[in-house]
Amino acid sequence: MCSNEKHKLVNLVLPRGIHISENGIPSAYDNYYEKRASEMRGFYQDGNALEEIISKENVVLYRVYEFKNSESSNDLVYGISIVAPLKIGKEYNMTKGHYHEAVDTSEIYFCLNGDGYMVMETETGVTECIRMTKGTLVYVAPYFSHRTVNTGNQEFINLFCYPAHAGHDYKTIEKNGFRKIIFEEKGDPVIVDKRAFSENS
Ligand code: PA5
Ligand code: NI
Repeated sequence: MCSNEKHKLVNLVLPRGIHISENGIPSAYDNYYEKRASEMRGFYQDGNALEEIISKENVVLYRVYEFKNSESSNDLVYGISIVAPLKIGKEYNMTKGHYHEAVDTSEIYFCLNGDGYMVMETETGVTECIRMTKGTLVYVAPYFSHRTVNTGNQEFINLFCYPAHAGHDYKTIEKNGFRKIIFEEKGDPVIVDKRAFSENS
């Protein structure tokens, strides 16, 4: 018998151990989704380059494996995101990016493979772009929108974990985008202010 009254009321969920293979695929998961090029309209600077990709193969730009037990603020959601090594025009492939609905929640990302950036911004205009390679841990602080960008030539694989009540707000990004974009110049990634990029192109 458990001596602590609190423990008696709990609807017990069992602990879990999962193996993540070299290519980022977990041995088990609760939910999987993928984003094809056609679902990313409006996110890239070069809309024509995206349409060309859509009309050819409409490839998968990124995939996400999630572990979700509940939406309790005491619980965690965690998973793996895999961003393909591609460019849309000169802009590197990336996730849509989002704020958390519970905007004061944070998140941890840990890079398992590849080379890229975590781009983070607040609504008030504070921006941070952190380079991520295998072994980099990024703390996405509360109030920062976040997106991963693959600037390398391998799959960019990250493990993420956030409070289960965080939720995703995509609308703000769909409407305004991020201020910082990353594109290729002479073979290297360059981070630029979107306004400057549109003026010069
Ligand atoms: O919550 C997170 O940050 C991740 O689970 C992302 O949802 C995942 O990396 C995919 O990115 P996005 O949700 O921006 O499409
Ligand atoms: Ni998030």
